[in-house]
Amino acid sequence: MSTRVLFVCLGNICRSPLAENEFRRQVREAGLDGQFEIDSAGTGGYHHGEQPDRRMAATARQHGLEMTGRARQFQQSDFDDFDWIIAMDASNRADILRLARGPADRAKVRMLREFDPQAAGDLDVPDPYYGGGDGFEYVYQIVERSARTLLAELTSDQSR
Ligand code: 4NP
Repeated sequence: MSTRVLFVCLGNICRSPLAENEFRRQVREAGLDGQFEIDSAGTGGYHHGEQPDRRMAATARQHGLEMTGRARQFQQSDFDDFDWIIAMDASNRADILRLARGPADRAKVRMLREFDPQAAGDLDVPDPYYGGGDGFEYVYQIVERSARTLLAELTSDQSR
């Protein structure tokens, strides 16, 4: 059975689609294709149907990563369709938890930076949308190393 992982941010055009595409690349490079189902969503619906933000896509491309996918809004049924729901920041996490129907739903929710060895207590992936150019590279670095740790944990714990 595959492990189903959903990454969630606000708009689903910057952080969570980056995490989705980077995690998928790492899974593929580890030869684990088929063992994971990976998707992303936004807690807000404003960008529904849009392609990834072109600044985020440009940064990803500098790292050899082509971003695919269209924005969609997080919905309650995602608790049924995914084993792990990975929030990019505390606000996303609160919005996700507001839709949880009980402890089983809540237990699926994590923050991406719980898996960042360099988080140093700050568990938010900063929203790069309104910030400058450096923000996108900073987000990429966080996502790249957090995804690595996440993949290691999900593949080492067979009980999941
Ligand atoms: P994301 O970035 O949550 O990383 O996709 C944002 C994209 C759009 C908006 C906010 C954050 N917005 O307010 O439109």
